[in-house]
Amino acid sequence: MAESMKGLKRTHRCTEVSSANIGEVVTVMGWVQKQRNKGGIIFVDLRDRSGLLQIIFEESDIKAEGLEKASKLRSEFVIAVVGHVEKRSGAVNENLATGDIEIRATELRILSEAETPPFPIEADSKTKEELRLKYRYLDLRRPDLQSKMILRSKIAAKIRSFLTEEGFLEMETPILQKSTPEGARDYLVPSRVHPGSFYALPQSPQLFKQLLMCSGYDRYFQIAKCFRDEDLRADRQPEFTQVDMELSFVDVEDVIEVNERLIQYVCKEAIGLEVSLPLPRISWKEAMDRFGSDKPDTRFGMELQDVSETVKGCGFSVFTSALENGGSVRGINAKGQSAMPRKKIDALVEFAKGYGAKGLAYLAVQEDGSYKSSFAKFMTEEELKALVEAVKGEPGDLLLFAADKNKIVYNVLGALRIEIASQIGLIDENKFNFLWVTEFPLLEWDEEENRYTAMHHPFTMPMDEDLELLDTDPGKVRAKAYDIVLNGTELGGGSVRIFQSDVQEKMFEVLGFSKEQAYDRFGFLLNAFKYGVPPHAGLAYGLDRLAMLLVKADSIREVIAFPKVKDASCLMTNAPDIVDDKQLEELGIAIAAKEE
Ligand code: AMO
Ligand code: AMP
Repeated sequence: MAESMKGLKRTHRCTEVSSANIGEVVTVMGWVQKQRNKGGIIFVDLRDRSGLLQIIFEESDIKAEGLEKASKLRSEFVIAVVGHVEKRSGAVNENLATGDIEIRATELRILSEAETPPFPIEADSKTKEELRLKYRYLDLRRPDLQSKMILRSKIAAKIRSFLTEEGFLEMETPILQKSTPEGARDYLVPSRVHPGSFYALPQSPQLFKQLLMCSGYDRYFQIAKCFRDEDLRADRQPEFTQVDMELSFVDVEDVIEVNERLIQYVCKEAIGLEVSLPLPRISWKEAMDRFGSDKPDTRFGMELQDVSETVKGCGFSVFTSALENGGSVRGINAKGQSAMPRKKIDALVEFAKGYGAKGLAYLAVQEDGSYKSSFAKFMTEEELKALVEAVKGEPGDLLLFAADKNKIVYNVLGALRIEIASQIGLIDENKFNFLWVTEFPLLEWDEEENRYTAMHHPFTMPMDEDLELLDTDPGKVRAKAYDIVLNGTELGGGSVRIFQSDVQEKMFEVLGFSKEQAYDRFGFLLNAFKYGVPPHAGLAYGLDRLAMLLVKADSIREVIAFPKVKDASCLMTNAPDIVDDKQLEELGIAIAAKEE
C-alpha cells in the first residue's frame, strides 16, 4: 500500500550525501536496488539517478514496526527514508561514491510497491535489446544508460551556452511544413481542414533557416527534431536531432572557425577531452583517394594505393578491362596478415561483393618472399614485383586489390579497410580524430533518374574557381560544402549557400527543374531572395551521433531515450499503428492496401 510523502522533503540525491554530512539528518528518496535481511539488521541499497547509497534499518533506531516494514522491501519499491549519516560500520566499499558512509534510518515510507521487473536493473545488461526496448522506462533506469542520457543533456547544454555566448539566437521553425522532396523520403501528415493535402515533417530546418537570414537574424541556431523516412542503420533513426545553425556575411572559413571552437569547448566541458585546433582538413578528392570514403576514419593507416599505372598492360584481364572501361585498380596493404587463413580471405571477398565488387584479388607475400595469390598466375614475375612494390608490400603482408569503376573501387576498399582494421584490432578506441572534409562535388549523377542531383542540397554554392564549369562540365564543379567527421562517422555537414538568383537558376537548370517546377517547390525562398539576401552559410550536426561518439556507445539508440528499431517502429508503444475508421474518414483517406 502506497504511503504519502507528506511532511517529507528530499534533502539530497543518493550520492550527494557524503562523509561531510556525518552526524546530520537527511531525507533521501529513490528505488530499492537490493534488500538484505541479516536477522535483526536490514541493509538496503537505495538508487536514484545519481547512484547508490546504503541504508541500515535496526530496531534501536526505527523500532519494531519500522523493521517489520523494511523487511517487506523488494527491488524497485520506491521509498523515502529519514536517517542519520554515519561512517560506514562495515568495510568501506571502494566501488561506490558513498562507500564510506551509511544512513541509519529512523523513518521509512513505502511510496510505491513494484512487481518484479522483467529483467534486472543493472549496468551492462545481458538482456536482449528487444525486451529492453519494450520496457524502455525500466531500461532507462539502468545506471549505464542513465549516465549516457545525462551526458547527452550536458552536451546539449554546453552547445546552447557556447552558441548563445557567440551571439547565435535560438529560434524554432515549423514541424508541419510543405513537402519539398529532394534527398530522403518525407514523412507526410494529412490535413483534416484541406482534405487531400499533406504537410511534411522537416528533414531539416534548411529553408526556414535561410529565410531567417533573409530576415536579418544574422546568427541562428536550433536543437531541432528532424524526420527522414530512410532505411535505418546503427547511426540512423527516422527521427533524430540536429544542432542546426546558419550565419550571415560569412564564407567557409568563418563557419569552420566558430565550429572548431564549439567542438573544442564541448569536448572539454562534457568529457574532459582536449582537442587541439585547427582540426585537420582534407579535400573530398583526397579523402576518396586515400581512404575510399568521404568520412574517413584516420585512427589507423592502411590507405588505398592507386596501382592503375603499374598494372596497365599486365596479363590479368580483370585489371586491364577495368582500366579500359575508365575505371581504376587500387589496393590496400594489410600489414602482417599474410597468414590469414583461406576461409577468412574468402569471407573478405564476400564482404567486398556486398559493396558491389565483382571479386577481390589477393596476394599474400610469404615470409620467404614467395607469393600466394588468386591472380599471380596471370602475371609475370616482374609485373607482380612492381605491383607489390606499388603498395609497399613486404614479407608477411596481405595485399588486396579491387578493379572496377572508381565509385565501386572506393566503396569496396573503403569498407574493407575498416572491416580488416576492426578484425585485427588496429583501431585505438581512445582516439578522437576529428576531420573536416571540404570541396565536395556539387553534383552527383543519378543513374536511375538519368540526371544530376545535388550532393548536399540545391542551395549549395559552387566554388568560385569552378563557377564557369557549371555550363560546360557540371560534374566537375566543386562546392563550398564541408563535412565534419569523427572517427569515421559523419558528424555534421553544411555549406555556403547560393544567394545570387542567376546562379540559383542555373543550378536548378542543371538539376533538370524547369523554372515553374523550381518556383512551385521553392518559390517562397526564391521570392525572399528578391528582397535583399545576405551571403550566408551554415552547418548541422547530428546531436545523437555526437553524443554516441562522445559517450562511446555502439549505436545511437543508446543516447536516445525512446528510439525506434530497424523497421522504424517503437516496440514500447507499438507505433506506427492503425487508426480508427472515423479518423480516416475525417481526413478523407481510404487505405488502398492493408499490410497482412
Ligand atoms: P545533413 O543531411 O548532412 O545536412 O544532416 C546533418 C547531420 O544530421 C545527422 N543525420 C542523422 N542522424 C541520425 N539519423 C539520421 N537519419 C540522420 N540523418 C542525418 C548527421 C548529418 O551529418 N540542412 C543540412 C545542413 C546544412 O546544410 O546546414 C542537413 O540537414 O550527423
Ligand atoms: P577469376 O579469374 O574470375 O577466377 O578471378 C581471379 C581473381 O580475381 C579472383 O580472386 C577474383 O576474386 C578476383 N577478381 C574478380 N573480379 C575482380 C575485380 N573486379 N577486382 C578485383 N579482383 C577481382
